[in-house]
Amino acid sequence: MDYSEKVIQHFREPHNVGVLEEANAFGKVGSPACGDKTEMYLKIEDGIIKEAKFMTFGCAAAIASSSVATDLLKGMTIEEAKALKNEQVIKELGGLPEAKIHCSVMVEEAVRAALEDYEARQK
Ligand code: FES
Repeated sequence: MDYSEKVIQHFREPHNVGVLEEANAFGKVGSPACGDKTEMYLKIEDGIIKEAKFMTFGCAAAIASSSVATDLLKGMTIEEAKALKNEQVIKELGGLPEAKIHCSVMVEEAVRAALEDYEARQK
């Protein structure tokens, strides 16, 4: 299976790339499958994700997954963000090749790591 048109679009012109200086949640995850990495930055206010950015050092599927995930995250509550699964990211992308599923899992894990970081900072 080739990449969908949507994957190619998000890879060529990814949304929300960069370091979010005012982030109050940060997660960094590496994929054991390939060594690629994703950094996720979130700005959370009153339980809502106001801003989301990422830096992904990886393949086209990882960059496209990060792009749609950060689009989806904006406006979500913390609980909604915790429930964000890689399947939802894949659906948004119009599918991913089997060998690229782990790229979306890496992004899901980076979101979870950022939310855990946020909760740890609240203590
Ligand atoms: Fe490993 Fe895409 S993140 S090949």
